[in-house]
Amino acid sequence: MINVTKTELPPLEKYIEYLQTIWSSSWITNDGPLVQLLEQRLQEHLGVEHLIAVANGTMALHCALKVLRLKGEVITTPFTFAATTNAILWENLVPVFADIDSETFNLDPDDVERNITDKTSAILAVHIYGNPCYTEQLQEIADTHHLRLIYDAAQAFGVEYKNRPVLNNGEISTLSFHATKVYHTAEGGAIVSDDDQIVEELKLMRDHGIKSEQEVTIPGTNAKMNELQAAMGLCNLESIEKHVERKKKIYEHYKKRLNSTEVRFQKIVASKYNYSYMPLCCENSEKKERLLLELLKIGIKPRQYFYPLTVNYAYFNHNRDHVADRNNLKNAIDVSRQVLCLPSYPSLDMKIIDTIIDLANSVLEDT
Ligand SMILES: Cc1ncc(COP(=O)(O)O)c(C=O)c1O
Repeated sequence: MINVTKTELPPLEKYIEYLQTIWSSSWITNDGPLVQLLEQRLQEHLGVEHLIAVANGTMALHCALKVLRLKGEVITTPFTFAATTNAILWENLVPVFADIDSETFNLDPDDVERNITDKTSAILAVHIYGNPCYTEQLQEIADTHHLRLIYDAAQAFGVEYKNRPVLNNGEISTLSFHATKVYHTAEGGAIVSDDDQIVEELKLMRDHGIKSEQEVTIPGTNAKMNELQAAMGLCNLESIEKHVERKKKIYEHYKKRLNSTEVRFQKIVASKYNYSYMPLCCENSEKKERLLLELLKIGIKPRQYFYPLTVNYAYFNHNRDHVADRNNLKNAIDVSRQVLCLPSYPSLDMKIIDTIIDLANSVLEDT
């Protein structure tokens, strides 16, 4: 089966070199030397002032929402992975879903503004598929209405918008280094902020709130990254540029050869992009279904990221109170029905990509 992605692993010898340093010190977790080194390298690589490595991208979101002491409603996108919405619910906040822009697939700033009430405390936007949000407009809205602005940048590793790291927007950005991401530490994630006070508190928060042996100053959690994860991250940092370059080739090949009139692509607004995903939209969602079935028949498994919308998860049916369900989510509903993410990973053979493209062109053009 050809899946939508395949985890790239570093040369085993390289990983073993790091393991040897761990074995010689027996320091395997609790802010170890490899985590510290990874944080430093990632700060340099990503062009950010502070980066705090954590256990995964979901913990990064939990800590980001917690540290800002939010109350009431958080305006967010329904066109995302479950973790974005779940994290809001875990903090006992109410997700309010605004519509997305039909071209970039990110939150539509005008619809965000329409959904602001006196209960709104924050905006949690997502750079979906790594494509940057309209950050200036969102910042302006946040400033005007005194809202906190957080970005779920789980998919936006290494992306730049208007020649600046996309992670330097908002008060906090969170990253995921899950094995399916373009850059990974098996499981892992990070929190980025340029606010010293927030950074200090987040460091305490990820380690139970322990300030010293006899002082626990906040009710923290265990969100620590361990040394095995950091070792994987240090190895993978060496090949990230090569992998993105290869994914760019794959992306461009798909885009050039998928020439059915039924197809449209996400409008990418990044000045530097990571080509994480290969989303294709078929205006005719029945044809999309057909294409999915035909691909499955020949052992190719694209994914319907993100169908269903998080607002349509069954658990909201039982407790409508949690959802300020007053929105018109037309664009999100349409894109969610139309989208199919095609396989894209560095070791994927171009011949397989051509097979996918030929099949897609013929299924979509078939009347
Ligand atoms: C948009 C988004 N948010 C949050 C997450 C959660 O990250 P993790 O799986 O590392 O917990 C992911 C990825 O899995 C994601 O794609």
